[in-house]
Amino acid sequence: MTGNLPFFSLEGVDGSGKSTQLALLIEHFQKSGRTTISVREPGGTPVSNAIRALLLDPANDIRPTAELLLYSAARAQLVESVIAPALQAGKIVLADRFGWSTLAYQGFGRGLDQDVIRSLLKIACNDVWPTHSFLLDISVSAMRARLEAGGRPADRMERESQDFFTRVREGYLSIAAQNSQRFTVLDGAQAPEHLHRLIVKKLADFGI
Ligand SMILES: Nc1ncnc2c1ncn2[C@@H]1O[C@H](COP(=O)(O)OP(=O)(O)OP(=O)(O)O)[C@@H](O)[C@H]1O
Ligand SMILES: [Mg+2]
Repeated sequence: MTGNLPFFSLEGVDGSGKSTQLALLIEHFQKSGRTTISVREPGGTPVSNAIRALLLDPANDIRPTAELLLYSAARAQLVESVIAPALQAGKIVLADRFGWSTLAYQGFGRGLDQDVIRSLLKIACNDVWPTHSFLLDISVSAMRARLEAGGRPADRMERESQDFFTRVREGYLSIAAQNSQRFTVLDGAQAPEHLHRLIVKKLADFGI
């Protein structure tokens, strides 16, 4: 499946505001009457949610390659059973993270080979890829402050070091620069309502 699919994703480090923006977008589309589905990665199917639980449980010591394969398996299941059928039915799909996250976290963060990751993305996604993605960029210190203010215990990924998240953030910015037609980079420190308006304005370019 290729072409200008109504498939959009939100990207950014933990706490950058992806879920906040997704909730605002869902509300926006509900008002306009377009059929929209939202998915969260890893997750979105029973099998993918079981893999999510494995990936985020701080009790699990998961090696980087195993982590890459688990994220890929969760994504393959999500694409085949939810995203591709929704797109085929003409629905708008909004994703809270998608494959770019793997390039940022497992590529730049863990240091795994980018070409290997791209091959796995091809296998898992079978050409189902977001037409456009929004990168919510925040500093690692802002990220930490938001996660601490949230008060929930940190998951396995959120427990990673300052250096790890610096690499992930810089990785995202580099990915967005190299794929500039596919990305809108937003300063995630701006007010949620303002960010929402910018996202809605950009989606209008795609007839959404
Ligand atoms: N633009 C913003 N300015 C200030 N705070 C924000 C903004 N957007 C979201 N927040 C707050 O930051 C915290 C993290 O936001 P949110 O859960 O949307 O991030 P996320 O990217 O989905 O995080 P995760 O990757 O952990 O799921 C929440 O407490 C949220 O209220
Ligand atoms: Mg979230």
